[in-house]
Amino acid sequence: MANVAVIGAQWGDEGKGKVVDWLASRADVVVRFQGGHNAGHTLVVGNQTYKLSLLPSGLVRGKLGIIGNGVVVDPDALLAEIALVRSQGLTVTPETLRIADNAVLILPLHPAIDKAREAARGDHKIGTTGRGIGPAYEDKVARRAIRVADLAEPETLSAKLDELLLHYNALLQGLGVPTFSKDTLLDGLLKLAPQILPYAEPVWERLDELRRGGKRILFEGAQAVMLDVDHGTYPFVTSSNTVAATAASGSGVGPNAVGFVLGIAKAYTTRVGSGPFPTELHDDIGQLLGDRGNEYGVNTGRRRRCGWFDAAMVRQAIKVGGVQGIALTKLDILDGLTELKICTGYRINGTFSRHLPAAPGAQAAAVPEYETMAGWAESSRGARSWADLPAQAVKYVRRIEELVEAPVTLLSTSPERDDTIMVKDPFEG
Ligand code: IMO
Ligand code: MG
Repeated sequence: MANVAVIGAQWGDEGKGKVVDWLASRADVVVRFQGGHNAGHTLVVGNQTYKLSLLPSGLVRGKLGIIGNGVVVDPDALLAEIALVRSQGLTVTPETLRIADNAVLILPLHPAIDKAREAARGDHKIGTTGRGIGPAYEDKVARRAIRVADLAEPETLSAKLDELLLHYNALLQGLGVPTFSKDTLLDGLLKLAPQILPYAEPVWERLDELRRGGKRILFEGAQAVMLDVDHGTYPFVTSSNTVAATAASGSGVGPNAVGFVLGIAKAYTTRVGSGPFPTELHDDIGQLLGDRGNEYGVNTGRRRRCGWFDAAMVRQAIKVGGVQGIALTKLDILDGLTELKICTGYRINGTFSRHLPAAPGAQAAAVPEYETMAGWAESSRGARSWADLPAQAVKYVRRIEELVEAPVTLLSTSPERDDTIMVKDPFEG
């Protein structure tokens, strides 16, 4: 099976953009299958930096990009991102980008309700990106969402907006924020329609053709397993399933078409937004990881929380996410640290647990149990072979493989595309 799915194995921002970009050179098509413009994928190509949120990363390599039905699409954000990458010299046309006609749209009322609810939560906020992702997925499950294909039917739009506003204006009013008028929303959608519809099609059919033609498909995940709405640290999660199985349902192919599942993990841990983070560091080392790793959200500019590598959490993500090999990123950020810690499990109210439990109280009470290793003084940055790596860095990677119970398939040693060690070609299965 020549296909590959890339998913995050921590809490996001593992460097999926770089790995997908690197793998895209070996693929024919890149497919996004969940999430929306809450994702922030940074690709560094020579002296050009692309920051993509919604567009499949393969576009940078001139590969066909597909936005699957599992993605929630904000049409304004999409058009703005297309304009931005065009200004950076990329070609985005209906020949290079296809969007599932059954994908759900994010409307202006979704970020409004997202932000209003977060504000109302006060100290208990989830720390969402405020981009309307959660409310859009709620509408999909509640069967009231407006989808891409609806843009071609003004009457459908009008009727659906009536139903949506019945729901949302009551909520917005209750939260004390401005409500929306149907005419404004309808006019907006009808203006966007001719700009979006040329990209729309039943992408499942194209994917079927591509598969039958022996083409290589790369499925590009957003967010990460620990942000999965079922398997993550609920309720501090995103509103989609981020596990590899979603690559199938979120694009309209069968589970056997997904191929090799590559999980991306940083050599340490970060998290944006609220929620449990057992290995979080509030000391100088946490500060150093954040500074050196440039740990700021691509979308929000928020400083990411930083901590030691949590092998117990990554092992859990690997099991539930279906990960067969890991791509370990940002190893160079640990260069020069005298001592490194790896979390192997948690002490929770006096009992040892090898996994993060489902109950929020128990998650919050989890105290990491660490294994300590010596660090390395030499630089690992830019290494392109195992021989280029400090011996102690190799030991650290090997220990991670043992603890998470999965092999390292790729190792990334800088943001540069080519600073990558390939242990095994994921497309070879
Ligand atoms: P990439 O693809 C890191 C987090 C938010 C928040 C929670 C819910 O770049 O790895 P949402 O707006 O999705 O309802 O927010 O999920 N979150 C991410 N954290 N990387 C991301 O994407 C994220 N997308 C959402 O910070 O805690
Ligand atoms: Mg990100």
